[in-house]
Amino acid sequence: MSGPIEDAKSPYHKTQYRDFFGKDPKQLCFVCHANDRSTKEFVIAKTQQEYKDTQKQCTDCHMSPKKEGFASNLPIDNGKPKKRMVREHGFVGAHTNWLWQDALGIEAKKSGDSFIVTLTNENPHNITTGFGAREPILDVIYRSGSKVIETKSISMAQHYTDKRGKPTVPHLAASATEDMSVPARGTKTFKVPMVEGRGQVTFELHYRLVNDEIRSLLELKQPQWSKKFINRTLFPTLL
Ligand code: HEC
Ligand code: HEC
Repeated sequence: MSGPIEDAKSPYHKTQYRDFFGKDPKQLCFVCHANDRSTKEFVIAKTQQEYKDTQKQCTDCHMSPKKEGFASNLPIDNGKPKKRMVREHGFVGAHTNWLWQDALGIEAKKSGDSFIVTLTNENPHNITTGFGAREPILDVIYRSGSKVIETKSISMAQHYTDKRGKPTVPHLAASATEDMSVPARGTKTFKVPMVEGRGQVTFELHYRLVNDEIRSLLELKQPQWSKKFINRTLFPTLL
């Protein structure tokens, strides 16, 4: 077993220190979260290719800052487990709501008879990344007074097809629709029409863990798969 602790000893297996855990941990993550292909050699994840360096490491966002804890419960420190500075090993991803909070910025500007909605991504990889079926959704809610007069929903999910052109899961895909992710440290814009009548419009950013297609293909029945999580709301803009 290799890792970031120089004086690690285990009665169960050999241990080796590797300095890159401390110096450049993304090297480790990219062993697996690089550029994955489906069974048909179609690229379905490209976190490494997307990556644009920032001050933050993968471990800062997906594990935790280092804090006092224990790397193991072996009684190696005078009969007690040894206290060390460690990170949490949750590898927090899209299943954890707080990770999404503020993951994208949202702005809207009037332009002629439309709105230009800009999503900004400060993260070092695209949002979404690494798993093809996540679905960010931009909801546009038009109101007149307190009455909702119209809603529009823009799905940012990618859809995958097998070699016969039938819907399938990313891991079996031969092709896909356009990549709708917001580029690493970049922006993506959408043109949204205004509607007739004076009122207000609200932009809400939601996401679902998988889109409808994947949910039915994999027969995912539990509520978490269809739940629409709120990410950000941009509060009313006058029409
Ligand atoms: C040995 C291969 C391997 C390495 C190395 C690895 N991962 Fe993973 N990781 C996986 C696999 C496989 C999954 C998917 C598990 C699943 O689908 O349930 C995963 C899942 C994740 C997820 C998603 C969890 C979720 O809830 O959706 C995140 C985030 C993640 N890894 C981050 C990291 C980071 C950061 C590093 C480097 C510190 C890292 N991984 C190193 C294989 C790896
Ligand atoms: C500045 C914070 C930040 C850093 C640094 C960062 N990520 Fe992420 N990552 C996020 C956010 C926010 C999401 C959630 C949105 C999503 O799933 O697309 C995410 C999602 C992911 C996912 C998909 C999880 C899922 O369940 O869909 C993977 C895999 C992942 N990151 C891997 C990495 C790897 C590997 C690195 C380093 C090379 C890295 N991340 C660096 C913020 C970060």
